[in-house]
Formats: sequence, C-alpha cells, structure tokens
Amino acid sequence: MVKKPRVLLTEPVFEEVAGLLSKHTELTIGQRGTYNNKEKLKDEIGGYDALLSMLSNPIDRSVIEQADNLKIIANHAVGFNNIDVEAAKQKGIRVANTPDVLTETTAEGTFALILATVRKFSDAERSLREGAFDGWHPTGFLGADLHGQTLGIIGMGRIGQALARRARCFGMSIIYHNRTRLPLETERSLDARFYPNLEDFLSECDILSINCPLTDETHHLINAQTLSQLKPTAILINASRGPIVEEAALAQALHENRIGGAGLDVYEFEPEVHPLLLTAPNTVLLPHITSATNKTRKAMGMLAAGAILNTCCGLDYPCNYIT
Ligand code: GLV
Ligand code: GLV
Repeated sequence: MVKKPRVLLTEPVFEEVAGLLSKHTELTIGQRGTYNNKEKLKDEIGGYDALLSMLSNPIDRSVIEQADNLKIIANHAVGFNNIDVEAAKQKGIRVANTPDVLTETTAEGTFALILATVRKFSDAERSLREGAFDGWHPTGFLGADLHGQTLGIIGMGRIGQALARRARCFGMSIIYHNRTRLPLETERSLDARFYPNLEDFLSECDILSINCPLTDETHHLINAQTLSQLKPTAILINASRGPIVEEAALAQALHENRIGGAGLDVYEFEPEVHPLLLTAPNTVLLPHITSATNKTRKAMGMLAAGAILNTCCGLDYPCNYIT
C-alpha cells in the first residue's frame, strides 16, 4: 500500500476541510494556538509532508531549515507574511494561499468597520448597554458622513478594489496609492484617482484604508510622520496587517486628537493590543474578523486543503500557489 502523506493542520478548522484531508492523508490536527510557538514548529515540522498553516504560525527560515520532508505550506489566509517564501523556495517547498474566495467578504467587513467607526457605533452601543440611553437627543454620538467624503486606499489589489466599488455606492470619492498604477480602464471603472506621492495622497484622505500586504517596504508605512500628514479629522482603517501601522504612534495621535479616529481589525503584536489603543477615543477595535463568515472561512480552508491534495496526492482540486 502506498503510504499516505503526513499532514499537519495546525488548528481545528471546518469538519468538511479536515474530513477531506483525512480521506487522502494521515492528518494531525493541532490544538488552537499551539503552533504559534516557533520552537514547537521547529521540533515537529521534520515529520510532515505538508503543512496547513494559520497566519499566526511563524514559519521563518529557521523553521523551514528543519522541514526536510515538507513539500507544501498551504496558508489558511490571503496574506503570507508569516512565511519566509524565499527560504521555502530555496528548499523546494511550494507555498499556497487563499485569495479571491475572501475578497468580497473582506471588503464587506472592512466597509462595516468604516461605518462603525465614523458613526461611533461601538461607543454608542457600549453606552446603551451600560444603561446610559436616556432618550433621543440632538447632539449625542455625532459622527461623520461618508457621502461627499474622500476614501483613500493604500493597496489597490483585489480587496482594495472591492472596497472602492462599495464606497462608490455610498457617494464617496476614491483615491489610491499603490506600488504600480492600475490599468486606465480599471481606474476609470472604479472612478479612482492615482496618487504616486504618499504625502499628497495622505493629505487628501477623509478616510484612509490600508489594504496592502505587509512587506519590508510597508512595515510602519504609517508612523508618527505619515500620521501627521493626515487631516486632523481623518479616520484610519486597518484590516490588512498590524505592523503596517506603528501602533504606539497611532495610539498617541488618537489620544492627542491629531487624527479623527481609527477602526482596526489587526494589531502590530497580535493578539496583544497596545494598552493606549484600548482607551483611545473614537476607536473601534475588532479581533481580526473581516473575513469571518461561515461560507468564506470554509472556502479558505478548502482552497488551502486543495493545494495539499494537489501537491501531495496529485488530485485536481482548486488551489492557488505563490511559488
Ligand atoms: C487574513 O488576514 C488573511 O490574510 O486571510
Ligand atoms: C490581496 O492582497 C488582495 O488584495 O486580494
């Protein structure tokens, strides 16, 4: 009998995903969070042919060096900054991620975060639950409008574009900053204006949404200096990766009212949240959930599993390889 490939799924996922994998492979499922520990990964990775990893699993060069039998790392996320892709490539290990299936869901979640932040829904709901709702009044929880405002998008990839389409329906103007300019036809269909210069771009944003991947170039792209280039009323939204924003500088800017507010789904030192963010005014803090719907999370699991079945079993499931 042919030996089944040994697969490590680092956290429990949907039963359909685990079930499919266990039909074709010898599947080990880790307990939640245990493989966020690099030493544990290093100790055990040598015993597996495939890894289905979470974005919280630090798969750096030192881990990959121990991965002597590994053929594929399939990340249960579109972002893959947790993986040293270059090191994997050098060792002949394929890497896959889960784009497309989460684009619309993530844009919906991000747009909900924008609305909740500009309309102060978190503060308002908290106040009601604390018993402070004493009837309608003309100046309670005043927020900002979206119509007529400018949404600035850093990172006009699939998710950025899906967000732009939604913002258009809300009567917003769209500007964007990106490594490369979109084809003119795409720009025209989104009615989005390109700003090659970051400072010019930032000074125009009423709402700034970060939708780029985390790379060496985007690490701390938003820092004390770039925050000071925003309007004092600007709202910062980050549903991409935490380390793109220097969290301490953001917390300080919020406390000093140098920007209008922030809606965050991701954190620099996730799952830790900077203590000054917890007390910052006009701030909505979510626990990394903008792609969190049943349908999308299942589709992400299936797409990641598909890469493993494709690589290790020669089965023809949809998947997306990065290398
Ligand atoms: C979530 O953050 C993802 O990258 O899929
Ligand atoms: C990926 O980065 C995307 O925008 O879908």
